[in-house]
Amino acid sequence: MDRHVKESILHQTVCTVVFYYPKNGLIVVRKVTLHFVDPIVGKTSTVEVEEGTTVMRAAKDNNLRMEGACGGALSCGTCHVYVDKEYADVIPEIEDEEKDMLLLALETNKTSRLGCQILVRKDMDGCTFTLPKSTKNLQNN
Ligand code: FES
Repeated sequence: MDRHVKESILHQTVCTVVFYYPKNGLIVVRKVTLHFVDPIVGKTSTVEVEEGTTVMRAAKDNNLRMEGACGGALSCGTCHVYVDKEYADVIPEIEDEEKDMLLLALETNKTSRLGCQILVRKDMDGCTFTLPKSTKNLQNN
């Protein structure tokens, strides 16, 4: 796609950026703050990502302990996360294909999701995702 960013303007808060795309006009790219708890490392990492990315991409781009082996093709299960219960209503509902993949993943519970299937939205701002202690790459079966 011919993506010439002509102008970027920092808006009201540091978290909102407006880009001008010649073909599409103004597109608002908002930053969202997410937290990732890693029980293996014993650390919570706070990252800022663009709305529209996936939770898997947010973790990988920030060098957190998430493999995301299939790159978001819903075929590995290595992007498994536990979603903060407080944000259960904000996270989009799980689709059948994701449910099927989670059945094969390790250490799942009611809050389990695949990070590659969750698109980050502004209303997820502040959400916490916990990484499982282990994952199993289902592509290697
Ligand atoms: S990255 Fe492979 S299922 Fe999500």
